[in-house]
Amino acid sequence: MARVYYTTPIYYVNDKPHIGHAYTSLATDVLARWKRLEGHEVFFLTGTDEHGQKVEKAAQDAGMEPQAFTDQVSQSFRVLAERMGYSNDDFIRTTEPRHRRACQALWEELVRRDEIYLGHYEGWYAVRDEAFYGPDELTERDGVKYAPSGAPVAWVKEPSYFFRLSKWQDWLLRFYEENPGFIAPGSRRNEVISFVKSGLQDLSISRTSFKWGIPVPGDPAHVMYVWLDALTNYITAAGYPDTGADRWRFWPADVHFVGKDIVRFHAIYWPAFLKAAGLEPPRRVFAHGWWTIEGQKMSKSLGNAIDPLALIEEYGLDPLRYFLLREVPFGNDGDFSRAALIGRVNGELADTLGNLANRTLSLIQRNCGGRLPAVAEAAPADADLLQALAALPAAVAGHLEAQEFHLALEAIMAQARAANGYITAQQPWALRKTDPARMEVVLRHLHTALRVFATVLQPFMPGTMAAMLDQLGVPEEARGLAALATPLPEGRPLPPPAPLFRKIEVAA
Ligand code: MSP
Repeated sequence: MARVYYTTPIYYVNDKPHIGHAYTSLATDVLARWKRLEGHEVFFLTGTDEHGQKVEKAAQDAGMEPQAFTDQVSQSFRVLAERMGYSNDDFIRTTEPRHRRACQALWEELVRRDEIYLGHYEGWYAVRDEAFYGPDELTERDGVKYAPSGAPVAWVKEPSYFFRLSKWQDWLLRFYEENPGFIAPGSRRNEVISFVKSGLQDLSISRTSFKWGIPVPGDPAHVMYVWLDALTNYITAAGYPDTGADRWRFWPADVHFVGKDIVRFHAIYWPAFLKAAGLEPPRRVFAHGWWTIEGQKMSKSLGNAIDPLALIEEYGLDPLRYFLLREVPFGNDGDFSRAALIGRVNGELADTLGNLANRTLSLIQRNCGGRLPAVAEAAPADADLLQALAALPAAVAGHLEAQEFHLALEAIMAQARAANGYITAQQPWALRKTDPARMEVVLRHLHTALRVFATVLQPFMPGTMAAMLDQLGVPEEARGLAALATPLPEGRPLPPPAPLFRKIEVAA
């Protein structure tokens, strides 16, 4: 049994959650659930990023004190986590005392190791990204300069502490070389490597022009740069600075899930901060792509940000969870459209998986007295199906290990389609009169197929798959991956089946 640690980014509390936020955490949740199903010890962390100029400004705009404002918005991310069914083990807020302690301890450690010096910052800053940019990275329109992200930048000039980032350039390049899996997908890795090769400047890590942040130890006129503060959350939750803490066993993190916009912070600054403080860098940073909405960029000004809670209300939680990870290769950008969601739900969940379950379980109910038929030898006609089923959990595991959520789902769906082909070819409903013994064999194999599908789909659709496993008569303790090796005893009574997925009506 291994110990694994997965994290989501911590979300800015400047605004209420949208589908992009739900997405990063969903991917993390599915992997965390999968690892638990494999029997591993998992620590899954999410939370909120509450300091900095951007949040301070959002609080001012709302006419509230920053603490009261962040209490309120952070709560909406907690509600999102519950409603999306995330199985996070902790929810961290950067305004908590444990986090202030960790940040200040990390700072002091960096000072002790001569990694920090006092200077003066003069350059471009984008509040929206909470990021510094070099002049060569900017473009100008109508007299306003913009960062590559599209965020406007402003000139900042203030006293500042610096982290000796430039010193770590060669080490970082060696680290990427020696750990080819550290940044995924590969396109992001290349981007990061060429950015580092182009030369790293020392990084400004404190601000003096506003107050909403963690005070620098010994010099409270400075607050810590919000990205140093934010990244530290990953070790705060593991108990830092108490490296004897029980949770510290989980460090280093196995995967930091992030969006493509925040790769630079996670893949450059973060390993450098850690290494400089004598701590181990994380094992992997996976950057997913961005969602557009019906072909348009999601933005506050367009007012098209999609509220995940409204989608849950409309389509149900599990269809939404399935769609988000099924539709777009994880790592690519994708477009959210209602038509695509409805197509997947109706075609794959209702018609393929739901129908297979319903047909099989209704036949067992009607023709086998509602009791599970006996395990039987595979006839030649059954061999393909059974072989593919036996290989499925390992194939899914391989895809999830590489964060290929879409390929995992595709592999499962391909088998569900094959099982539908099998039921059509074997016609168990016709065998009832001609060969009832063979009918029982076919239905038992179909039951096996459904059990495998429901087991491996639990991380994606926990609620619906629990209902499916109930209908299949699989007891709670037999729902892990290892339990698939043990067939359920024959004769087990199965409850009457009920539809698992509702087909979404499309208005004509
Ligand atoms: N607070 C920082 C992260 C600090 S982690 C130490 C932050 N927060 S955020 O709220 O702006 O974004 C959080 C995550 O949401 C990012 O991974 C980002 O990529 C993701 N998304 C925001 N909009 C998105 C889409 N339109 N589509 C997909 N994901 C997007 O950055």
